Formats: sequence, structure tokens, C-alpha cells
Amino acid sequence: MSSGQVNKTLVKLIFQESVANYTVLDVGCGTGALSFIVAEKVQEVIGIDISKEAIAEAGKRSTGNTSFFVADADTADYTVLGEFDMIVSHLCMSDRIIENSGRALPKDGVFAFACFHAKHLIEGGRRSRFSYTEAEMRQVLGENGFTVEYLEVESKEFPFKDLAEAVEIIGGKNIRRWQNDGRLQSLENNISRGGRSLTKSILVGKARKK
Ligand SMILES: C[S@@+](CC[C@H](N)C(=O)[O-])C[C@H]1O[C@@H](n2cnc3c(N)ncnc32)[C@H](O)[C@@H]1O
Repeated sequence: MSSGQVNKTLVKLIFQESVANYTVLDVGCGTGALSFIVAEKVQEVIGIDISKEAIAEAGKRSTGNTSFFVADADTADYTVLGEFDMIVSHLCMSDRIIENSGRALPKDGVFAFACFHAKHLIEGGRRSRFSYTEAEMRQVLGENGFTVEYLEVESKEFPFKDLAEAVEIIGGKNIRRWQNDGRLQSLENNISRGGRSLTKSILVGKARKK
């Protein structure tokens, strides 16, 4: 993923803070798209991801103030990795990530994220299991000791002419999953009823530990 694909609002929210001396944890960092952007302005970035391949790739690009580890963000104890002023996450989200972040951040520590909104690619007939509505996100953040400072949905319609174009928008590498879990069939049904666009919908937020 190139830096151009990282949500711009999220980057803005992160750099609104006085980050120069910050140590930042990037959860579900993948190959480090967000990590490397953040690393340009902070003291240190640690990235974790469950994918060995992604971490190996991020490691190859690692700069002086970045390090990357294979870890399951749902079960890891983030405090073992360091003391963090901020935890960020781009398109990797779960209740457990929010819970673990709430435990690891000090008072006034920031959790900044962009994740799938419940309406993301809803033309496939069902929500991504990693998606949140605004209300769900507010609730989980509240339950884990955060005050929500920013929470907005960014949605865009992507028109297509036919199934092949729709598949391109979804991303070829995701299509086998869509085939297996029935979303491709739902999309085909949607197209046969005249549907010719896909909704991409991202929930972007910033919350501060009480
Ligand atoms: C859509 S990618 C986003 C990657 C990166 N944040 C970016 O913006 O380029 C989602 C990432 O979450 C990772 N992931 C999924 N479940 C995870 C988990 N339980 N613990 C850590 N990483 C996880 C995947 O391996 C993948 O790299």
C-alpha cells in the first residue's frame, strides 16, 4: 500500500498533536504505509502485524526510528512492546484492539484510527466483520476509558459498468473470499437489479484516554 492510500484525515488528526517526542504504536501496520508517514515526525514508531510476510517487507524498508514485530493485535499485551504516547491503526480494528489500547495508553494518550464503516462495500450483502457504525465505535471507546474527540464517516460511491469493473474496485485479491462467503453472489444479484456502484465507507476517529 503506498502512502497515497493512507486516509488523509487520519494523518491530519495524528499530526494535530505535538508528536515530536512521541513513541507511537501502529497496530495492524501491514508493510508500514502509515508507520513510515508517522515516523517522519515522531521519535519512534513500532509496528505490529499478524502477517510475517508484511512485517518482513516493512522491516526491509525500516528507517532509524521504526521497528516491526509479528504479533496478534487482539491478544498481545502492548505494554510489553514499550510505553506509547499514541496508538494508531489504519484499516485494522476490533473491540480487542480498542481494549488493549485503552490498557496500554497513559492518561491523555491518543488512539487515532481509520477503519471500515458498516456500510463499506455493503453491495456484497453484508458488513465486514471488522466494520463499525459510529454508535458502536463510540460505545466501545467509552467502555475502554476514552473520550471521543473526532468521529466522522467518509463515504464515496464508485460507479462501474459491469462485474469485471466491480471486481477491480473490490480488489482482485479479495475476490476469492467474496466468492466463498456469498458476497460475490449478492453483488451479482445487486447488478442484475440495476446496481452499478460500490460504496467505500471509512470511519475515522481520534479518542483520548481519560
Ligand atoms: C487492510 S490491511 C492495512 C495494513 C496497514 N495498516 C496499511 O494501512 O497499509 C490490514 C492489516 O491488518 C493485519 N491484521 C489483521 N488481523 C490482525 C491481528 N489480529 N493482529 C495484527 N494484525 C492483524 C493484516 O495482516 C493486514 O496487514
